[in-house]
Amino acid sequence: MRISDTRRSRIRSSSMYEVRRAIPPSCGPLLEGEYMRLRATTPADLAFVRTVESAPENAEYVEQWPLEAHRRCLEAPDCGHWILESGAEHRAVGYAILQGLERPDGRVLLRRIAIAGKGRGFGRAAVRALARYAFERRGAACLWLSVLPANRRALRLYHSLGFVDEEPEADGEPGQARVLRLDRAAYERGGHQPPTGEA
Ligand SMILES: CC(C)(COP(=O)(O)OP(=O)(O)OC[C@H]1O[C@@H](n2cnc3c(N)ncnc32)[C@H](O)[C@@H]1OP(=O)(O)O)[C@@H](O)C(=O)NCCC(=O)NCCS
Repeated sequence: MRISDTRRSRIRSSSMYEVRRAIPPSCGPLLEGEYMRLRATTPADLAFVRTVESAPENAEYVEQWPLEAHRRCLEAPDCGHWILESGAEHRAVGYAILQGLERPDGRVLLRRIAIAGKGRGFGRAAVRALARYAFERRGAACLWLSVLPANRRALRLYHSLGFVDEEPEADGEPGQARVLRLDRAAYERGGHQPPTGEA
C-alpha cells in the first residue's frame, strides 16, 4: 500500500516515545534510569497484542478485538497503537491504544491498556508515558477512559495519577463502566509531572 508523504512523516515522528524515569524503590525490581518506551505497534506485533488481550486476567476487563480491528487501528491517523516496552532491553510488557488524537476538541481516549506481569509498576509508568505523549506531543485537552467498577487495580492506579470521575459515582448504574478524566490543568498541576531526574 502506498503511504502519503504526510502520513509517512507523521509515522516517522510519532513512532517512538520514551519516558526516562527515576523509579522509587517501592516500584519493585526496575532500576533507576530504566524507562518505559512507547513503540508504534506493527502488524508483526499483533500476535503478542492478542495474547496479552486475551489472557484471562485481562480479558475480564478489556474489549476483545479481532485482528482486523487492530489492523484498522494501526492505519487510522487519529489512533496511537503502542507496544509498551520497559528497561534497557526494551522488553515488551503490554500494549495500549489511544484514540481521538486528531479531534479538534482535544479529547483523547485511552481506549485500551493491558499489561503482562502486573503489580511491578509497568502500568503506572505506561499511563504516565501515554499522558505525557497525549498532552505534550499531541496537545490534548483531556485524557479520558472508561473502567469497570470491579477493576479495583485500574481504578486505584488512575485515581492516584489524578484522574477524576466525569460523573459522580452514585449516578451510574451498579456495575456500569465509570468514565474517568484527566484534564490538562490537572496534568500540569502535578500528578503526572516527572520527578526530578526524569527526562
Ligand atoms: C490495570 C493495569 C494496566 C495496571 O498495571 P500494573 O502494571 O498491574 O499496575 P502497577 O504495578 O503500575 O500498579 C499501579 C497501581 O495499581 C494499584 N495496584 C497494584 N496492584 C494492585 C492490587 N493487587 N490490588 C489493587 N490495586 C493494585 C496500586 O495503586 C498501584 O500503585 P502503587 O504501586 O503505588 O501501589 C494492569 O493491571 C492490567 O493490564 N489490568 C488488566 C487490563 C485492565 O484492567 N486494563 C485497564 C482497563 S480500564
